[in-house]
Amino acid sequence: MQAIVARNLTRDYDGLRAVDGISFAVEPGEIFGFLGPNGAGKTTTIRMLTGQLLPTCGTAEVAGYDIVTERQQLKPRIGVVFESQNLYERMSARENLVFYARLYRCPKTRVDEVLAQVGLTQRARDKVLKYSNGMKQRLLIARALLHNPQVLFLDEPTRGLDPHIAGHIRGIIAGLAKGGMTVFLTTHHMEEADQLSRRVAFFDRGRIVVLDTPARLKAEYGRDDNTTLEDLFVQLTGSDLRRANEEL
Ligand SMILES: Nc1ncnc2c1ncn2[C@@H]1O[C@H](COP(=O)(O)OP(=O)(O)OP(=O)(O)O)[C@@H](O)[C@H]1O
Ligand SMILES: [Mg+2]
Repeated sequence: MQAIVARNLTRDYDGLRAVDGISFAVEPGEIFGFLGPNGAGKTTTIRMLTGQLLPTCGTAEVAGYDIVTERQQLKPRIGVVFESQNLYERMSARENLVFYARLYRCPKTRVDEVLAQVGLTQRARDKVLKYSNGMKQRLLIARALLHNPQVLFLDEPTRGLDPHIAGHIRGIIAGLAKGGMTVFLTTHHMEEADQLSRRVAFFDRGRIVVLDTPARLKAEYGRDDNTTLEDLFVQLTGSDLRRANEEL
């Protein structure tokens, strides 16, 4: 069974087609990089795949469950970390996690496990309002891991973080996939996507442009051996943005 299967997945917002009939499959234990310029439709795709937003048409299954008709079975099997997400700032990190562990009916022992997994054990009793962005991001990942999901969706997990913390978070992501978790990752850091993902999709204006392993994409579209994933991204996506800039 595939971890994610999307067929002709489409979403319109008041006449704007944000996601335009995409089809793809992600294997269990795979880190799948979903890469596209600002406004390409990445967050919209994640919101559909996690049952938060109805597709206009098309279907998808995540962990074997239909994202529309089987949302109740889907929810316990997935974890999501969005760009910005509410944490209870006046509560400590630990209290936040205990609250969600109760909500998700997870054993309380999971709280200490996930705190250790993201390296926050020492600071677990600090209020979240004293946390830096990097610590908050790790806490959000911890929260998404509480119920040990089969498929984890990460929407720009290292955005705005310094290279140390970003590297730490990449280590966490790689470790989760080694343990068998499927990870659907969006990021604007092409080096990060290259390092982590087994396969990547370049996604532009609602459509998948290419989908393959970074190595095969470089071999097929690269100009020479030094071509990076970032070079390919610039080459293969954002043509409308480039045109707009040239016209300025
Ligand atoms: N709630 C909404 N109502 C109307 N339009 C929306 C809504 N959410 C997103 N859009 C539009 O849909 C398109 C895709 O947006 P989306 O947030 O999915 O892109 P993204 O790839 O996640 O971008 P970014 O890299 O900037 O996060 C954009 O044109 C955006 O303006
Ligand atoms: Mg987004």
